[in-house]
Order: sequence, then structure tokens, then C-alpha cells
Amino acid sequence: MSSFYLTTPIYYVNDKPHIGHAYTTILGDVVTRYHRAMGEDVWFLTGTDEHGQKVQKAAAEHNMTPIEQCDTTVVRFQELWKKLGIKNDDFIRTTEERHKEIVRKVLQDLYDRDLIYKAEYQGHYCVPCERFFTDKDLVDGNLCPDCHRPTNEIVESNYFFRMSRYQEWLIDYIKTHPDFILPAYRANETLGFLKKPLEDLCISRPKSRLSWGIELPFDKEYVCYVWFDALINYISAIGYGKDPANFEKYWKNVHHLIGKDILTTHTVYWPTMLKAIGLEPPQTILAHGWWLIGKDKMSKSRGNVVNPMDMAEKYGVDAFRYFLLSEMSLGQDASFSEEAFVARYNSDLANDLGNMLSRAVKLTIRYFDGKIPAPGILEMVDKQLYGQVAEAVDAMEKSVRELRLDRGIEQVIGAVRAANRYMEQTAPWTLAKKGEMERLGTVLYVASETLRIVAGLLQPVMPEKMALLLKTLGVSGEFSFEDLRNAGGLVPGQRISDIDALFPRIQLESPELPKAEKKTEQKKAAEDSSKAAVPEGVAISIDDFAKVQLKTAKILAVDKVEGTEKLLRLQLEVGSEKRQIVSGIAKFYKPEELVGKIIVIIANLKPAKIRGVESCGMLLAAGTGDRLSLVTVDQPDFPSGVPIG
Ligand code: MSP
Repeated sequence: MSSFYLTTPIYYVNDKPHIGHAYTTILGDVVTRYHRAMGEDVWFLTGTDEHGQKVQKAAAEHNMTPIEQCDTTVVRFQELWKKLGIKNDDFIRTTEERHKEIVRKVLQDLYDRDLIYKAEYQGHYCVPCERFFTDKDLVDGNLCPDCHRPTNEIVESNYFFRMSRYQEWLIDYIKTHPDFILPAYRANETLGFLKKPLEDLCISRPKSRLSWGIELPFDKEYVCYVWFDALINYISAIGYGKDPANFEKYWKNVHHLIGKDILTTHTVYWPTMLKAIGLEPPQTILAHGWWLIGKDKMSKSRGNVVNPMDMAEKYGVDAFRYFLLSEMSLGQDASFSEEAFVARYNSDLANDLGNMLSRAVKLTIRYFDGKIPAPGILEMVDKQLYGQVAEAVDAMEKSVRELRLDRGIEQVIGAVRAANRYMEQTAPWTLAKKGEMERLGTVLYVASETLRIVAGLLQPVMPEKMALLLKTLGVSGEFSFEDLRNAGGLVPGQRISDIDALFPRIQLESPELPKAEKKTEQKKAAEDSSKAAVPEGVAISIDDFAKVQLKTAKILAVDKVEGTEKLLRLQLEVGSEKRQIVSGIAKFYKPEELVGKIIVIIANLKPAKIRGVESCGMLLAAGTGDRLSLVTVDQPDFPSGVPIG
């Protein structure tokens, strides 16, 4: 059985976890669940980085000892992982003896082999980054090149790892191993860094300055630099120096997930450390982008830190996992907002997947007494849908191997949309009316079978919801890709159960504005690091667009929705039809300004209740946050009800 070992970064315990931590850990969980489904011997490691200045400082601020700070904060991470359904095989804390022992062993070994030496050091130290810089590294005189905060000048004796020795080897290794650093542009970033001469790495801190760390085995006046200590967790956790069989098994196929900010430590320090120790570099180091809040970095001082526990509690764990994985195009930055969350949830999960399930289930209950019908001869349209589903299975498997889950998920949701179109095309309700029961049975079988495969494909992303979907179809158990590859897994006659709504629609107070904002933000974040005109993951097909019916509408009357600041109720004329829309534009328009305008609406949006008031459709507006402009037509007497396309 082939092995697959995956790690997340180990998180600092100076503060509680945020959405960035949650993203990497969920990504790791989903990737390893897929590999388990591929029948591999999987080991998934996460943990906490508990030494160093950051933790010492946080402890002092909280009037705690460093270990008390660690013990209190580690629980926040462990509880969050439990809540988010993370199935890690191990959780390593760098304060555990099993880890410290190996760090000491590595240090002693390198020291004995003269790969660590003592020297006087003069440099600039960045406290938040816990890194030393030389004069030429600094920006604007004295600022850290990474975080742009002022550095402190320091002169002291320290221990150094002979990292410079491995520069040529590392450059050559990166160039000859295209999968070593992903995405490829991050490999170029590291190669760019390696254009300058690589310096030896300072791996000690005098206790007089920092006491919270692992003491050097050959000099008790010093503790080990936190990064040198932390990186070793990847080998100490699987038994390096203690359990050679276990270590060999997993080290030969190890993949590290990291954020782009810790690229240098992972793609320069770590491979050179491994080379010195006599170990192979990891197979892959995958650097993902950052979650931004709007366009800003998340930070405590800005007060925009997203708490994953709150999100999971408010919207459900599986929906949160789905959003994080599908919204971030792997490698690039992504923008987080609750509005973007709700927009994606409503579109992919409530409309596409949830709707497809309730259609298949309701029709099976109504016409086949709740039992999966036996399929007859397949027609072209049935085979086409099965074809698209089979493509989604292949795409998902490929995306797992390439660590590009967002692409696989996109294809699976594409198959769900195709299934909804299939329902429109085959019109089972008409078949029932005409009494064509055999054909109806085939259609419902194909629809349910498609749902079975889709649910299997999405099970690692949304374990609980997909188990519920499968249970509804009368199926249980975990799937392997092999089970999903062949349509025909559902057994005719199997009883299914009724389900209300797998993903009930979520209604935000003012649904129009965020959607417009979301689109621009998403696009900008993607454009930042992509040169393509339409970044991948953002492009939609003409079929997707064709599903949206845009129409002109004339505003007949407007009043405020009682008890709200933001909402207006608009009475519209849409051709010969009258309808009502609720919209969050009260801050921007007075009711009397709106009457008579010809606006653009999405006419085929499912009706929803907003603050108890029925809303049939949605108007289009461009919003910047503090400005808003309705989309109108440029001829004031233009008729209403006219399709736009
Ligand atoms: N302790 C080190 C890692 C040592 S690994 C041997 C560390 N810890 S951290 O807690 O600060 O960050 C852990 C991870 O979270 C990093 O990969 C970092 O990129 C990621 N994130 C922190 N903020 C983030 C976002 N806003 N968005 C996505 N991930 C980000 O670094």
C-alpha cells in the first residue's frame, strides 16, 4: 500500500486560531480524506509551535508562564479542529519531550559534524518575524523586508548552521524537481531569493534575550531558534531517530501545506537542514495564498479577524468547509466576506445541489412509492449526463493529485448543474402526465445515480451533509473513487427517504449590494497574481449565464419595510406582470426618487422572504460600499419586461 504523509504548518499559540489557520487545516483534512478514499496509507499531521519570542511575549501580556500560555491556547486549536471535523492522525506540540529530544539530537549531530559553529554576529532582528536580516536585506533603512516593521540592531555571539554550503545544490534541486514547490511561480520566487548569496543561518538565541526555547545541547547559555526547532516537527512526529520503519514509510511521500508568507523558511531553510541531516527533501511544498478581508490583510489592530468557530456555528461546518475550499483558487489570495459566503452557498449548495436532490426525491416518492426505479434503455441525453459525471470523477481525482481541489469541486458542481438541466430537458413531470412510466423511471434513476456519485465526490469536503444525502438515497458507507467511476451503483427497489432541504437558503438582509461587491473583489484578488484575462475559477460558461433571466422592470411604487433601516419594498411592472421586490437600498435612494425608473432585475430568482416580506427577484446595482448606483436602461420610455442578454 502506498503511503501519503501530509502536514500543515504548526500554529503559533500566541493567539486563538483564525480563518487562515482553519483554511490550511481543512485543506489538509480534505486532501487526506481523498487519499484515504484512494486506498493509501495516510498520515495527517498538524500541531502547534510553542517556543520563541511571540509566545513568550503573549505569556507576559497575559500574566502567565509561557507553558501556561501554551496549555491554554492549544486547547482553542484542538477544540476548533474537533468542531470542524478534522481527522488528524497526530497533533504535535513542540513543547513535548518526543519533539525536544529529536531537536537536541539533530543539533548535536550537526554540531559534531561542524555543520553548526559559533561566531560573533551583527545584524538586524525583527521581533514579530523572529528573523535576522543583514543591512542589504532591510527596506527603507531599518525596516523588515517581510513585515515592514522597524528592526533592532544586535551584536552578539551565536551559533550558525552552514546553510550557505547548500546553495548550489538547492538551486539545482528546485530546477530539476518541478513538483517540489507549487504553484510553479512560488518556485521562481525562491529561485529569485537564491540569486543573492545564501548566508549561514543563525540558529541560537542567548538566554539573556530569550529564554523560552529548547536549550542547545552543547551550550546551556542558548536556546534554539524557533524556526529551526519548529521545522523539525515534521520528522520528530513520525519517529525520526526512534522508529525507523515508520519514519521511512511516511517520509518517502511527504507533502507540506503552507501559506505563502512562510515560503522561505520551508523552501530554503528546511531542505538545506534536511540535506545536512542526510534526509531527502519533501515531495511537495504547496504554498497557498492569503485570505483577505475585502482587500485588507486580516489583523487584530484592524479588528477584522474572522473567527472560524463563529462561522461554523452560524452556517454549519460543512458549508464553511465547502466555501473555503471552493472560493480560494489555490495559490492565489482570496477575499472573505459573509456576503460572498452566502452568495456561493445559495448558488452552489442551496440552488444547484439541494434543489437537484429535492427534485429527484420528491418525484421518486410521488411516482415510485419512494423506491429507486429500475432504469430502462439509456437514451443519448442520459448517456451525456453520465459522461459529464464520469469526467467530474476524473477531474476530481486529478485535482487531488495536483493539490488543486478548487478545480475539481468546480467540475463536480458543473455536473450538478448539468443534472438540473437534464431535469429540464427530460421533464419528468411531463413524462408522468403522459403516463410514460418506464422512461420516467430511467430519468429518475439517472438523476439519483448522478446524485450518488456527486455526493461521493464531495464527501471529503462535506462529510456530514453528503452522508445525509446518501442516506436519503438509501446508501451508506464511504466511497472510493473506483465505486464512483461506474454509474449503476444504486440498487433498484431500494427505499429512499424524504428530506426537507439539505441546504436551506440563507437570506442576508440586503442581498443585492454584496453580490456586486463580491464579484469585483473576487476578480481583483484573482487578478493580483494571475496574468490571464479571465482568471481560472472566475470564468463561467455561456450556459451558466443563460440560466439567469435579466429583464427590464418599471418601478411603480416604493415604501420602506417597517422596522428596518436598509430595506425598501418596490412594486414593479414587468411586462404584463406585477411583482414585488425587497432591496437593501434605503441608504442610497429616497422612495420618491425611484418611482418611474426603468431598472434591471433578475427575474427568475426563487422568491424569498426578507424580514418577513416576500421578494420576487432581485434588482441590479453597482455598489462600492459607500456609493450605490442602480443599473437602468438609457431610454426613459423603454418598455418593461424586455429580456436582456
Ligand atoms: N509557526 C509558524 C509555522 C511553523 S511550520 C514549521 C507560523 N505560524 S502561524 O500561526 O503564524 O501561521 C500558520 C499558517 O497560517 C501560515 O501558513 C500562514 O501563512 C497561515 N496564515 C496566517 N494568516 C493567514 C491568512 N490570512 N490567510 C491564509 N493563511 C494565513 O507561521
